[in-house]
Amino acid sequence: MTDSTNTIDWFRHTAPYINSHRGTTVVVGLRRGATANPNFINVVHDLALMHSLGVRLVVIHEQNTFNSEPLTPVVVNTAVVEALEERTFIERMFSMGLPNSPLHNARLRVISGNFITARPVGVINGVDRSGRGLVRHVDVAGITHSLDGSAISLISPLGHSPAGEVFTLDALDVMGAVSRSLGADKLIVMSDFDGIEGSDGDMQRQLTVDVARQILESSDQAEKEALMLACDACDSGVPRSHLISYALDGGLLKELYTHDGIGTLISPDEYEQIKVAETHDLAGILELIRPLQQAGVLAERPNEEVERSLGKFTVITKDSRVIACAALLDNPADSIAEIASVATHTDYRDSGHGERLVAALIDAARQAELERVYVRTTQTGHWFQELGFTMSSSDALPESEKQKAKIDRNSNILVRAL
Ligand SMILES: CC(C)(COP(=O)(O)OP(=O)(O)OC[C@H]1O[C@@H](n2cnc3c(N)ncnc32)[C@H](O)[C@@H]1OP(=O)(O)O)[C@@H](O)C(=O)NCCC(=O)NCCS
Repeated sequence: MTDSTNTIDWFRHTAPYINSHRGTTVVVGLRRGATANPNFINVVHDLALMHSLGVRLVVIHEQNTFNSEPLTPVVVNTAVVEALEERTFIERMFSMGLPNSPLHNARLRVISGNFITARPVGVINGVDRSGRGLVRHVDVAGITHSLDGSAISLISPLGHSPAGEVFTLDALDVMGAVSRSLGADKLIVMSDFDGIEGSDGDMQRQLTVDVARQILESSDQAEKEALMLACDACDSGVPRSHLISYALDGGLLKELYTHDGIGTLISPDEYEQIKVAETHDLAGILELIRPLQQAGVLAERPNEEVERSLGKFTVITKDSRVIACAALLDNPADSIAEIASVATHTDYRDSGHGERLVAALIDAARQAELERVYVRTTQTGHWFQELGFTMSSSDALPESEKQKAKIDRNSNILVRAL
């Protein structure tokens, strides 16, 4: 394959992810050091691309410098000034539009402001923490208004009080409160590590919240903070949290627009889900079955036909991406239905997905009080036999299908009684 064919192929494969992320609200937390990293300009470019692909972005930055000195008014003022300088730096990066850069003609609008109301931390263990605040309220309407106006919302770790004071805030507190209050679809925490490694040194691509909490104790401080934030976000209703590195070129794009991602995904439950297909799964189903149809492995079905019968498809999704599908094509007049378009993405084969789908469709057929199901296949007769199907002929098909059987791909017909 030539380079351009590879690029076209890659671009086509991103379509399901582009569709599934469009219109979602994603909170991106930039941890300490992100804006000072040489890769930060690439992070900005990737955020700009995500924005142009319809992702509603809220970016929250943590200050690069952390001042543990007692909070004299001078120290507080310095911290506020530094936070504002970083905010200005980020706005400046988003405003660049040099020719030959991904931001050329992007005309990005970034809105920052007094979105966070804070209250003082007060005196803790006898130490007056004046100048440090806690999030009291997130201006959801204000942030939503910015996002509705196609702007990127940029939030600094600063909060204002009704008395007119400004407080420096723990950015992790802000990231959690904003994701929770907005009902974000995702929280992405960008830190100085690639993701969470298992005891064997391999990157853990997915963790459930329960497992993530178990490994908290053995993690270093930065990992622990990010893991706790991610777990708390999931507990408060954010469906997915991702931990990725801000130093890795293309990290955001790899995490969101490729099959396996690049960092660690944390979700409340098992990330794979079996369910009846929904509208947003259509692109993923077509992506899965189209090459198999072109190769003659699956029967041709025009896209419109798949779209019309979408509710008859069952899919297995992984982080909202379709990795396997199958359809139960029933007709109210018949007591036999076809199991069709059974396909598992090549990366996920031999893990029981196909068998799980066929079992789910058989259950559905039983519930619909059908008597038998059949399949037409050119290459997987043996596989279906192992699932309890037996070789049959076109005689077993409903009348409406017998004629079609004569002109199809010389498929084998296998039937299973229910
Ligand atoms: C057939 C298919 C759906 C199986 O998906 P899967 O998720 O890998 O299925 P499972 O994990 O449940 O089963 C895998 C087992 O079936 C076996 N298998 C896969 N294809 C087979 C075939 N054509 N003939 C016989 N056995 C086969 C695998 O070797 C594996 O066996 P093992 O468990 O002993 O290692 C998948 O290979 C696929 O998408 N094929 C292309 C589309 C197709 O042919 N669809 C069927 C026509 S509708």
